[in-house]
Amino acid sequence: MGENNNHHHKEQKPLTYDKSNKPFSSSSSSSSSSTIPSCSFTAMIVLLIFVSYLLYSFSFISFLNPYSPSKFPNTLLVPVIRLGSGQKLEELQQTELKHVVFGIAASSDLWKHRREYVKTWWKPHGDMNGAVWLDTPVNDSVSSSSALPQIKISSDTSSFKYRYRNGHRSAIRITRIVSETVRMLNGTEAERNVRWVVMGDDDTVFFTENLVRVLRKYDHKQFYYIGAPSESHLQNLHQFSYGMAYGGGGFAISYPLAKVLEKMQDRCIERYADLYGSDDRVHACMAELGVPLTKEVGFHQMDVYGDLLGLLSVHPQVPIVSIHHLDVVEPIFPNKSRVNAVKKLMIPAKLDSASLVQQSVCYDTSRQWTMSISWGYTVQITRTYMPARMMEMPTRTFNDWHKRYDFTNVAFNTRPITYTDCQRPRVFYLSRAFSNSSSDQKTTITEYMRHDEWYPSCDWGIADPSDINQIFVYKKPNPDRWNKAPRRDCCRLVPTRKKGTMVLNVAACANDEILAYSDK
Ligand SMILES: *[C@@H]1O[C@H](CO)[C@@H](O)[C@H](O)[C@H]1NC(C)=O
Ligand SMILES: *[C@@H]1O[C@H](CO)[C@@H](O)[C@H](O)[C@H]1NC(C)=O
Ligand SMILES: *[C@@H]1O[C@H](CO)[C@@H](O)[C@H](O)[C@H]1NC(C)=O
Ligand SMILES: *[C@@H]1O[C@H](CO)[C@@H](O)[C@H](O)[C@H]1NC(C)=O
Repeated sequence: MGENNNHHHKEQKPLTYDKSNKPFSSSSSSSSSSTIPSCSFTAMIVLLIFVSYLLYSFSFISFLNPYSPSKFPNTLLVPVIRLGSGQKLEELQQTELKHVVFGIAASSDLWKHRREYVKTWWKPHGDMNGAVWLDTPVNDSVSSSSALPQIKISSDTSSFKYRYRNGHRSAIRITRIVSETVRMLNGTEAERNVRWVVMGDDDTVFFTENLVRVLRKYDHKQFYYIGAPSESHLQNLHQFSYGMAYGGGGFAISYPLAKVLEKMQDRCIERYADLYGSDDRVHACMAELGVPLTKEVGFHQMDVYGDLLGLLSVHPQVPIVSIHHLDVVEPIFPNKSRVNAVKKLMIPAKLDSASLVQQSVCYDTSRQWTMSISWGYTVQITRTYMPARMMEMPTRTFNDWHKRYDFTNVAFNTRPITYTDCQRPRVFYLSRAFSNSSSDQKTTITEYMRHDEWYPSCDWGIADPSDINQIFVYKKPNPDRWNKAPRRDCCRLVPTRKKGTMVLNVAACANDEILAYSDK
C-alpha cells in the first residue's frame, strides 16, 4: 500500500519535481498514512493530492522568497528550483567571466616580453580560467607568476602537413588550441561552468567586462563563432576573408561548437595545408560545419601601423573588446612604453568599462570650438564647428597594413587629420582617472593634458585651443548602456573660471538632444 501510494504520488507530482526527490515523497506518504489509518482508498488518494498540493504550494512560495525562514530542510526545496523544460537555474544565469575559458596563443621566445601585456588584463586568483599555450617549456623564473594564466605546452604537430611558402607551421599548433582546450577541460569540474572558449594572442589585450557584455547577447548553448574581420580590405579580400574572425583580435566559440570542432579539427586542418595561419584554418573548419562568423566589431585585429589615435578616438558604438598588435603600433599614449600605455588605459577601463573610448562631441559656442571626447583616452579640440557626421569618422593618424598610406585599403570611412592648418585638432591625453567618492552619486573624473606636438599657426581670429592646458571630464558610470539601443553620449561645457582649464560633463543625451552646428 505504501509503495503503491508512493507510486501514485509520484505520478501526480508536477513535472517540475525531480525524480531524486526522495525525502519529499517519503515524508508526505508516511505522514498521511499514519494520521488516518482507516480511511477508504479514494479518500486516501484525495487526501494525498491535497497534502502534496499544500507542500508544493509551500515550497513554491519559499522558492519565490528564498530567504523566508522555512521549517523544511533545504533539500526539499532544491527540486522545485528546476524549471519546466528541465533547465537548471544555473544555466539561466547571465554569462559572467567565470563562464569563459581563454586560450592564449604565445611562443616561448617572446613570452618573457609579451606576458607583460597579458598581465595588464588577466585577473589572477581564479577569477579567470584559461591557459597560455607555448611551443616549448620556458624557464620557470619566467613562467611561474600568480599574475598569469597557467602555462601549457602544445602537443606535437610535426605529423601535420603545412605547405604555405614562407609561412610558419606554428599556425597548426595555434589553431589546435581550441581543441586542446576542450581536451584539457574534458570531464573536469571546471568544464561544467564553461560556456565560451575565447582565443587571443599574447599581444592582444582584452577588456574583459566588455567581452562578457558582448557574449551575454548570445545563447551559449547554440553554435556561435564570434569575432571580427581585419581593418585591412586587402587582407580580407585576398589572403583571408570578411567571413573570418581574425585570431589576434580574438574570437569566441560557444562551448558546444568548440566540442564539435574538436571532433573534426585534426582531420579538417589536413585538408587546408595550403593556408597560411591558424585563424584561417579555424575559419575553414567553421565553413565545413556551416557556422558563419557573427561579427562583433569591438574585437580589433588592428592590422595597421602608426598611431591608433584616429581609430580609438572614434570607436564604433559597441563596447571595445580587444586591441591587438600592440608591438606593431605606436604606444597608445605618447611618451610611455607600450606596456605602460596599456596599463594606463586600464585605469579608466576599471571605472567605467562600458564607456571606454566611447565618443561624445559638443561645441563651445563662445570660442567656436568643437570638442570630441573619447572617454578615458583623449579630448580633441578643433577650431570651428565640425558637423557630427564628420566627427564620427576616424582620422588618418595610422598607416595601412601594406604601408602605403592608402585609405582605399581600410574597410571603413576615414578622413584626413585636417583639411586646413586652422582646423588641426589639439589633442589632450588622459593623465588621471578617478572616481569622486565624496559626491552622493559616484562620478568619474578623468583629466586630460595637452600634448605638445607640432601645431601650425592660424590667422582665422578664432581662439587657440592651445590656451587650454588641462581638461576635466565628469561622467557617471553607465554599465547598462549596451542593454539599450546604441547612441552616442552628449557632452556639455561646464563653466569654469580657472584659466587654461576646461570642464566637460558627459552623459546620455536627452531624448531630443542634437549636435547642430551653427554656420553664422
Ligand atoms: C633561468 O633563468 C635564470 C635567471 O634568469 C638563470 O639563472 C638560469 O640559468 C635559467 N635557467 C635555464 C635552464 O635557462
Ligand atoms: C573525454 O573523456 C572521455 C572519458 O575519458 C573520453 O571517452 C572522451 O573521448 C573524451 N573526449 C574528449 C573530447 O577528449
Ligand atoms: C616624457 O617622459 C619623461 C619621463 O617621464 C619626461 O621627463 C619628459 O619630459 C616627457 N616628455 C614629454 C615631451 O612630455
Ligand atoms: C566631488 O564631489 C563633490 C560633491 O559633489 C564636489 O564638491 C567636489 O568638488 C568633487 N571633487 C572633485 C575633485 O571634483
